[in-house]
Amino acid sequence: MTAWIAEVPTAGTVELQPDPHALDSLGRNHSLETALADLVDNSVDAGAGTVLIRFIRHGARLIGLYVVDDGRGMTPESIDTAMTLGGRRSYNENDLGRFGVGLKAASFSQAASLTVLTRATGHPAVGRRWLHGQEHANFQCDLVAGNFVEAELDRAWPMSTRPSGTVIRWDRVAGFPATDDTHQVTTFLSRAIDHLRGHLGLMFHRLLAAGRIKILVDVEDINEGVGIPTEISPIDPFGYMKPAPGWPRTLTSDVDGRQLQIVCHIWPRKASTEQYRLPGGAENRQGLYFYRRDRLLHAGGWEGIHAPDKKLQLARASIDIDGDVAGLFTMNPEKSRVAAGADFARAVTAARADDGTTISDYLKAAESTWGISTQRATAQRHPVIPPGKGLHPKIVREIVEELPQVNSSPLNLLWARFDNDNFFEIDRDAMTLRLNNRYRAAVLGGRRGGLNDAPLLKSVLFLLIENVFQGVHLGARDKDNIELWQEILTTAARAELAAYTSRA
Ligand SMILES: Nc1ncnc2c1ncn2[C@@H]1O[C@H](COP(=O)(O)OP(=O)(O)O)[C@@H](O)[C@H]1O
Ligand SMILES: [Mg+2]
Repeated sequence: MTAWIAEVPTAGTVELQPDPHALDSLGRNHSLETALADLVDNSVDAGAGTVLIRFIRHGARLIGLYVVDDGRGMTPESIDTAMTLGGRRSYNENDLGRFGVGLKAASFSQAASLTVLTRATGHPAVGRRWLHGQEHANFQCDLVAGNFVEAELDRAWPMSTRPSGTVIRWDRVAGFPATDDTHQVTTFLSRAIDHLRGHLGLMFHRLLAAGRIKILVDVEDINEGVGIPTEISPIDPFGYMKPAPGWPRTLTSDVDGRQLQIVCHIWPRKASTEQYRLPGGAENRQGLYFYRRDRLLHAGGWEGIHAPDKKLQLARASIDIDGDVAGLFTMNPEKSRVAAGADFARAVTAARADDGTTISDYLKAAESTWGISTQRATAQRHPVIPPGKGLHPKIVREIVEELPQVNSSPLNLLWARFDNDNFFEIDRDAMTLRLNNRYRAAVLGGRRGGLNDAPLLKSVLFLLIENVFQGVHLGARDKDNIELWQEILTTAARAELAAYTSRA
């Protein structure tokens, strides 16, 4: 056996430029919304008041995306550092930026072309473009033509990029549907905007609520102009009306002289608000919420303190990892996860509130609040027939979660051909509420039909009529109700049809 040598001896060097394909692995964990959140971080760091996310559409097809802000912009000197992978500037204490990769990783996770156009007060506007892929090897960054830079910065944005501002432009976005099918593209867009509302609303809720930033999302059709913008509203995961009595409590722990504070909240009961439900569902959002500089990084999960449990879904605790305690955590480059080390679990176990409350007292209290609140809800609400075919799965889930159900086969709501002009028909044997096909186009107002169409109408009908499907036979009161509903709803349906036909 040869002796172990502590220092590896070397005999000269060879230069190995990184292969441009190294970029391919960047930002693999990004989705469109986490990537855009990273660009919003940069706008926040640049002191922007407004950030606009704009999808660009040409006819049916989505062809690009912009993120525009009115922040301090970049000077011709600083833009090259900004475009450099791992190019780090000096960060101040409140900056969200950190690794010098966010912009590039986020952009290349979604698009093959990243263009940055920017203007800082008192400096000429300047632009750079990175093409990702075959065309440009060896990290050659393009200089964007001056008049184009000006023109892009001065497009009709909802805010002015004068005296300073930045336009980030993505072309060849891989995640956009490669189709000219209007229906598919429209569905994609509404889902993407929904995800953005959820993700950005949650992650930036403190900054949004404090008015430190405003985020707009819109769609521009290059022939038809810009649609109405959606403003992202804050979604506060601690936004209950009234907390469970006695909560929240702050647990504090000392880790080598550093203070870790966990603010333990308990929702009083399950709610149907967006703040309670959150993207991904409330059950998956129990646990810890890590904030860094008021930007939420990580929403839910117990980091090994406890296993997820349906009965703990009222428990949400916030931890601010600024300053001192930052060493207890590591953040992934996508800033979408915070990993806590072993010291963290120890610190949490040792944490105490002023009155001695521990984390396990907290979990017990959350569980018992859950028990009491579900008993109450089930006891108070009248049970319904389980919802069946024809209702949108989201509505089915809602009904099943909110209401106790009788033991019966499910109730279907289906369109059918009638030989009269009644609006509906009750078929108790088939457990089906039929709706007259004659009114369908009018109800849909020209939109495409499907098994789960007309969700609003069908939910209202379910709530109104479900009861008459219960019990062995119809009572006199049920019969009278059915007659009454039939008269009113048929009149309404005829009016709907008349309005629809006269429009066409
Ligand atoms: N919207 C923007 N406005 C002004 N400067 C920006 C903007 N986006 C990026 N930058 C500059 O680019 C640099 C690199 O950004 P990024 O790759 O996200 O890394 P980081 O944010 O970690 O520094 C930032 O530090 C900032 O100087
Ligand atoms: Mg950044």
